[in-house]
Amino acid sequence: MRTNKYEPVDFVDCEQVMRVGFVQMDSTLFDNEGNLDRALRLVGKKRADLLVLPELFNTGYNFRTKKEVAGIAESIPNGPTTEGLRDLSRRDGSMIVAGVAERKGPSFYNSAVVVKDGRYLGTFRKVHLFYNEKKFFKPGRDFKVFGKVGVMICFDWIFPESARTLMLKGAELIAHPSNLVLPHCPEAMKIRAIENRVYTVTADRVGVERGLRFIGQSEIVNPDGRVLYRASGTREECVVRNVDLSSAHNKSVTPMNNLVKDRTPWAYSW
Ligand code: ACM
Repeated sequence: MRTNKYEPVDFVDCEQVMRVGFVQMDSTLFDNEGNLDRALRLVGKKRADLLVLPELFNTGYNFRTKKEVAGIAESIPNGPTTEGLRDLSRRDGSMIVAGVAERKGPSFYNSAVVVKDGRYLGTFRKVHLFYNEKKFFKPGRDFKVFGKVGVMICFDWIFPESARTLMLKGAELIAHPSNLVLPHCPEAMKIRAIENRVYTVTADRVGVERGLRFIGQSEIVNPDGRVLYRASGTREECVVRNVDLSSAHNKSVTPMNNLVKDRTPWAYSW
């Protein structure tokens, strides 16, 4: 049963060339209000059609107990972080995908909230929980695409099925809020982009939290696997680039090979 209803949006049908960006930032554990302010300050006067913020950008990441999560998780869409993001998206007419700790009844999810033009569109809940996250959060059950924008969160990257599912559901760009701690993801996202012919926008954290260092290197990658911009490993920044989604429509690799039509699911069983 689907619990997260969302409105499909014609986000890209009218806009092939878009301005997409990310906020790379250092969050402060348990300071939801301060972290939202910090993100807004980093965005400043920059304008984007799509803006991606890191995983759990509002709360910080390195929880020790479920009680700590219970103290700061917010309901969606009625929580203050979602409200603040709606205000920002209304101001700019943008779509925002941002990692938020979600409270739903007695359960908690590592989620990404999606808003556009001041409207709440829906929530994606991280499917593949990483390490200690399994102690606090419940996993999500499906991948979601909003218009042409698919969403996955951080460690979802290591399972190629995540990006593949999003592409098969119609994503031409994957928004990827992250708190990366392993070194491999920035290079791996080039492969995710190539094997699905999609754009990817990874928004990562920087800094150290309770001894855990985040690797930064947020990036925007095109469907040929070319990195259009990669951030540093340490600095906060907000970066926006133009992308042309029409280059993600065509899934042909050669005149005789197509990433969708050439799939042979019957050969993939084991
Ligand atoms: C991670 O999934 N935050 C490593």
